[in-house]
Amino acid sequence: MKVIFVTGTDTGIGKTVISSAVSAFFSLRKKMNVGVMKPFECGLSKTDKDLLPWDAICLREASGSTDGLNIISPYTLEAPCAPEVAAMIEHVSIDISLVDKIFQGLKRSHDLLVIEGAGGVLVPIREHFFFIDLIQKWNAPTLVVSRLGLGTINHTLLTIHLLKERGIKVLGVILNDNAGSDDLPTQTNPTILKKYLADIPILGIFPHVKDLIKGNVDRERMADILAKNINTDPLLEQ
Ligand SMILES: Nc1ncnc2c1ncn2[C@@H]1O[C@H](COP(=O)(O)OP(=O)(O)OP(=O)(O)O)[C@@H](O)[C@H]1O
Ligand SMILES: [Mg+2]
Repeated sequence: MKVIFVTGTDTGIGKTVISSAVSAFFSLRKKMNVGVMKPFECGLSKTDKDLLPWDAICLREASGSTDGLNIISPYTLEAPCAPEVAAMIEHVSIDISLVDKIFQGLKRSHDLLVIEGAGGVLVPIREHFFFIDLIQKWNAPTLVVSRLGLGTINHTLLTIHLLKERGIKVLGVILNDNAGSDDLPTQTNPTILKKYLADIPILGIFPHVKDLIKGNVDRERMADILAKNINTDPLLEQ
């Protein structure tokens, strides 16, 4: 079985969009049994009557997984902060061995497990334990989602630097056009990043698409956008 850990260079840069598209693609186009996990979800979305783990819901719909939301996202926290901080505010004790047990179970019951991090690799989960430590513990092949625009060279290279230093297999980088801008950084990012990323492939540019996730997830559409714009082969070369 395969694992893809989706990390990003920051929060709000398109991890859920791309994790959903990857899950939909391998489920619909490659007929794989895809499981998903968002082990820590903070800043839950408020509806009229509920607080919902929106990322976990999107991932579940996109993948076609029938696992319960409490398995997909064992720790849901209300505060829009890093897990360590949200857990402290809400007096929750985070047990990594519980998350690990769920991870091992999901890995066993699916052909592919797509895991979305939160924020980036140095977001603290609990005291002195960061997302990079979780990735390393699981020896999880990692996909980096990076946004196009000013600042992304630094954020992308820093993220890759740490992953490489910890000996993590980096599957590639997807550049997400989340802003839909055509400014100079956006135009020049792919070439300059290709030069400095060297052996790490840029798998493609995920285009700006209006109303990508609105209300519910259109998994056919997401799989289609991924297939048309991203080189998916390296994702399973683990
Ligand atoms: N390619 C795109 N085209 C248009 N809108 C996009 C695109 N990618 C992301 N967005 C929008 O940007 C917002 C943030 O995206 P997303 O939720 O995927 O980020 P994230 O990295 O998962 O954030 P978090 O750190 O909170 O988990 C969402 O409203 C999403 O619909
Ligand atoms: Mg997300």
